[in-house]
Amino acid sequence: MPDRDTTPDHEPEPAGPATLYRRRMAERYNELNPWAADNEFYLELVMSASSVLDIGCGTGMLLHRARQAGHQGRLCGLDPDPAMLDQARVRPDVDWVLARAASMTWDRQFDLAVMTGHAFQQLVTDEDLRTSLAAVRAALRGGGRFAFETRNPAPRPWQRWRGGDPIEITDDSGTTVQVRRHARIVVADDVVHIESVLTVPGSGGEQVAHSSLRFLDPETLAGFLADAGLVIDEQYGDWDRSPLTGASPEIITVARPT
Ligand SMILES: C[S@@+](CC[C@H](N)C(=O)[O-])C[C@H]1O[C@@H](n2cnc3c(N)ncnc32)[C@H](O)[C@@H]1O
Repeated sequence: MPDRDTTPDHEPEPAGPATLYRRRMAERYNELNPWAADNEFYLELVMSASSVLDIGCGTGMLLHRARQAGHQGRLCGLDPDPAMLDQARVRPDVDWVLARAASMTWDRQFDLAVMTGHAFQQLVTDEDLRTSLAAVRAALRGGGRFAFETRNPAPRPWQRWRGGDPIEITDDSGTTVQVRRHARIVVADDVVHIESVLTVPGSGGEQVAHSSLRFLDPETLAGFLADAGLVIDEQYGDWDRSPLTGASPEIITVARPT
């Protein structure tokens, strides 16, 4: 894939409360998701690879930190959300690409690909998973690695998700929108659908922002990886590299091309 910051499959953002909500959440993303053990796990891998692709890079926190820590090689972050990528672009010494994983066309250019912050779970359909994993496999050089995590479905973490108190966000003209985050959670097979409800006080109307996360069990995950020509090298249940068990919160995987 050539270096570029727009792709033909990118739709312009629609105006309205849902876009405003995404923008405001992107602005606050780093504050709401501070640096933690998962980032340290990935930073170590990034610092030991000469060319790195961060798929679903969000605000670019990991690659920003890698440059700050002295990474001299090629760093590339890809994300389909323009609001997130706008935050990432504060550092111009990283390539930022606005695209989905499935539309990547790099050919054996990276020593390491990562998907962090549960970005992998946003690949919801079988087709998106298959196409994205094939694109990851193609982007890796021989001896390259793909590291990512997905939440373990066995402890059913969504049952403990609560949206908390409503939050208020304000648009550029001063209009306030009230957001009830995670107002409704619906589980269908291995996909968790999350709805957040946005209300402009006084307008009488509500808008619903939808998101979905796929929860693959370890066997199904291994099958998707194998079909894409990837084999699991290492797998852990938590960021301390403890073994994966039924009670583990995460399925952390480091895979390589077969
Ligand atoms: C929870 S954020 C994680 C961001 C970042 N990796 C981190 O750890 O802070 C998930 C990211 O995945 C991105 N994403 C969603 N669908 C994607 C896809 N099909 N391909 C690549 N990235 C995707 C979202 O836009 C979002 O920025």
